[in-house]
Amino acid sequence: VIESVTARRILDSRGNPTIEADVLLADGSLGRAAVPSGASTGAREAAELRDEDPGRWHGKGVDRAVEHVKSEIADAVIGRDADDQAGLDSALVDLDGTPAKSRLGANALLGVSLATARAAAAAHRQPLYRYLGGADARLLPLPMMNIVNGGAHADNPLDFQEFMIAPVGADTFAEAVRMGSEIFHTLRRDLLSAGHATGVGDEGGFAPALRTAEEALDFVMAAVERAGYRPGTDIGLIMDPASSEFFEDGTYVYTGEGVRRTPSEHAAYLAKLIDAYPIVSIEDPMAEDDWDGWRELTARVGDRCQLTGDDLFCTNETLLREGIRTGAGNSVLIKVNQIGTLTEALATVATAHRAGWTAVMSHRSGETEDTTIADLAVATGCGQLKTGSLSRSDRTAKYNQLLRIEEQLGSSARYAGGTALHRAG
Ligand code: PGA
Ligand code: ZN
Repeated sequence: VIESVTARRILDSRGNPTIEADVLLADGSLGRAAVPSGASTGAREAAELRDEDPGRWHGKGVDRAVEHVKSEIADAVIGRDADDQAGLDSALVDLDGTPAKSRLGANALLGVSLATARAAAAAHRQPLYRYLGGADARLLPLPMMNIVNGGAHADNPLDFQEFMIAPVGADTFAEAVRMGSEIFHTLRRDLLSAGHATGVGDEGGFAPALRTAEEALDFVMAAVERAGYRPGTDIGLIMDPASSEFFEDGTYVYTGEGVRRTPSEHAAYLAKLIDAYPIVSIEDPMAEDDWDGWRELTARVGDRCQLTGDDLFCTNETLLREGIRTGAGNSVLIKVNQIGTLTEALATVATAHRAGWTAVMSHRSGETEDTTIADLAVATGCGQLKTGSLSRSDRTAKYNQLLRIEEQLGSSARYAGGTALHRAG
């Protein structure tokens, strides 16, 4: 039974304020969770409540959301059974009462939702992944490691936001992390000798002043090979162009490259990249308002490439159903703060899996030391996790948590590898 609830303002990885919530149970079990924050957010995401006071935190304060947790939300959940996550989450949704959770703030709701799950797991003396996923939760995810950052996550001319490597051929999660780290450091040396800056972007990947996707992909390919791995066999490539960010009036405007492409030309360009490089997955290949483009690309390459909707679906089950019904994509990105409660995020994963679609658990570009998504990746058995590069503690905290989970599972642990990309339909 929930005895008390509180929240505080902490800093996220970009140095902006965010919410941390504590849920204390009558038996003394404590659950704590911090809420992440995006930069290239989808238009249909649940609303993050910010104070909008330009004189403090450049408007990004979360004092109102913290107050909502301490007053209205605390009053509504104290006395509730922490084991009843679904009941608690629907009470939170009803209490807010708005479609986008804009009254109390999705950030306020999510902090309490996740902290409650953590408190309940602690009360049962279970790790979170097992409390939520049961005894069958033993699949370690394929990590999508974002080693070149562009778009809204870096101040370079790269139009596409993320270039990732995924150790599809590793035998264990620990080996996957080793491979990723070796490639990351090889890439650093390669960039340095080519005269590029090696500072990192928001998600811990390098942010060199490259202009085209091909240039970035060529650097990544070279680093994979120079580190001793076979592109395609050991390492798959993944991109998140975050296409909504450069879709203007029906056209994809590549400012770094200096070209404009119609939706069909943009899809053809992506198809060409899939032919030329061992690209196994693309997230937000088309913009959130370009459903026709999504369907065109899915018909064209969906049989050989995972196409993951981030901005398109915003972890929203209703939007996902529309995508499943009309053939827009074949995979959904899961960001708990896009929807605002744990129960709704888990329902979206289940809906994807029932349709034979894949689901990818994901961080935000603004993160904290909170590692909940690592446990959620294992709990849901989704087999894929996107949590940034092999640097910045906000990113490596999740990899480190999975290393602990793999160790704890011992011989029962299984590593998803490349099979995670092809869920049977
Ligand atoms: P965000 O971006 O967290 O800044 O929204 C991540 C993504 O687009 O996947
Ligand atoms: Zn994305």
